[in-house]
Order: sequence, then structure tokens, then C-alpha cells
Amino acid sequence: MNTDSLFRPFNLKSLNIRNRIVMAPMTRSFSPDGVPTDNVAAYYSKRAEGEVGLILSEGTVIDRPSSSNDANVPHFYGNEALAGWQNVVNGVHAAGGAMGPQIWHMGVMYNHASGWVPPVPFEGPSSLNNPNLENGRAMTESDIADTIAAFGRAAADAKRLGFDTVELHGAHGYLIDQFFWEGTNNRNDAWGGKTLPERSRFAIEVVKEVRKQVGEDFAVILRPVAMETIGL
Ligand SMILES: Cc1cc2nc3c(=O)[nH]c(=O)nc-3n(C[C@H](O)[C@H](O)[C@H](O)COP(=O)(O)O)c2cc1C
Repeated sequence: MNTDSLFRPFNLKSLNIRNRIVMAPMTRSFSPDGVPTDNVAAYYSKRAEGEVGLILSEGTVIDRPSSSNDANVPHFYGNEALAGWQNVVNGVHAAGGAMGPQIWHMGVMYNHASGWVPPVPFEGPSSLNNPNLENGRAMTESDIADTIAAFGRAAADAKRLGFDTVELHGAHGYLIDQFFWEGTNNRNDAWGGKTLPERSRFAIEVVKEVRKQVGEDFAVILRPVAMETIGL
């Protein structure tokens, strides 16, 4: 097998990467109280020094009171956490790498083994994490509007801090994905419905808001849905 194409540069809008090797987002839970430390910066710089083309960060949560079930998952809001991310991206760039944060809202979750819980109940399209686990509450219209705005602010901050792209975590049963599925999205309003296109409205509105905040020339990734499948 010829692997030459893996080592060719790739360019899309703001994203200019030296090769096509991408580090997958991986939760590490080593940001105490949500703040990425020098330790986190060193971890990512090391991967850029190893010549990874694009690094996608571990999931980093948006500015909603119950967007996380883990006190050590990094925040992507607040001065202290964003200063930590600035340090991270500077280190990656200094080593010739490119990077995007994976912005995340976990939705309705199980309680973490550490015993830590967020200050308010988990939130999602319904109170369900899956058809057999209820552990939160259904979001109101204003919760949904605020969450969409929080995704937009996080994307704008990613651009402002100098990241090369931003990835929205739309997979693995977390908030955006909870809206896609009938088993967790049992809403009767305009955010739910019998068909996938109807249940895709939340993801579509998040992508639209993110695009509005970052402009046309910034690369936006949505994991894992192909944009065409939801009409974007
Ligand atoms: C420790 C660990 C943490 C992960 N955390 C995330 C995450 O925060 N966000 C995400 O989208 N995927 C996460 N994943 C999934 C990975 O991005 C990837 O899809 C998975 O490891 C399968 O990759 P592979 O097919 O190359 O083995 C995680 C995987 C591992 C092993």
C-alpha cells in the first residue's frame, strides 16, 4: 500500500496542515476544576513535536452549568481555562502543529464514579441518558437557546485564541447526539419528531450559530455526522 498521500499537506479554509495524520480527541480528565495546566500543554506539544498534522483536543465543555459530569474535564469558558488553552495552542503552534478544540456538552449523564456532580441537574432533550437511564431534566426553550449561544461563544473563543479549527462533539450519545435519537429525544415540540431530519434541528441550529460566530473562512468540523446528511 502506498502511504504517500498521508504525508501531503491539506488545506481547508483556516486549516493548513503539514500532513493528514490527525490525533483523535481523547478525554484525559487532567484539568483540575476545568483548567488546563502546563501539564496539559506539555502533553499536546509533545504530539506536535512528533509531527502529528492536526490535533483535536479532548472534549472541552461549553458554558452551561451541567455540561460536564467530571470536575477534571477542561472547560472552554472562563478566563482561567481559556488562558490555559491559549498556552496549549501556543505550544502546539511553536512545534509546527495545528489544533482545534473539541467543544462538548455531555447532556444527560450518569453520575461520575468520583461522586462529583454539577451544581444543577443534567439536561438534555429529555431526562433520559438512554431508554433505561433517567438522570436529569428536559431542556426548556430558553435552555436550548442559551446552549446554542454557548456553543457559538466557545467557537468564537477558539478562533480568537488562534486555534486552526473547531470540532463540535456530535457523537457518542452526548447532548447533540441525544437530540438525534428517538430513544432520548421524545419531544413533541419543534426540537423533536418522528424523523431524523426533525430531530436534527438542534445540531443544525448549533452549526449555524457556530458558523455565524466564526465567519465563512474558519474550518468547522462536526463529529461524526456528514453535513450533507442533515442538509448543511
Ligand atoms: C481514552 C479515550 C478517550 C476518548 N475521548 C474522546 C473524546 O473526548 N471525544 C471523542 O469524540 N472521542 C473520544 N474518544 C474516541 C476516540 O476519539 C476514537 O474515536 C476511538 O479511540 C477509536 O479510534 P480508533 O478507531 O482509531 O481506535 C476517546 C477514546 C479514548 C481511548
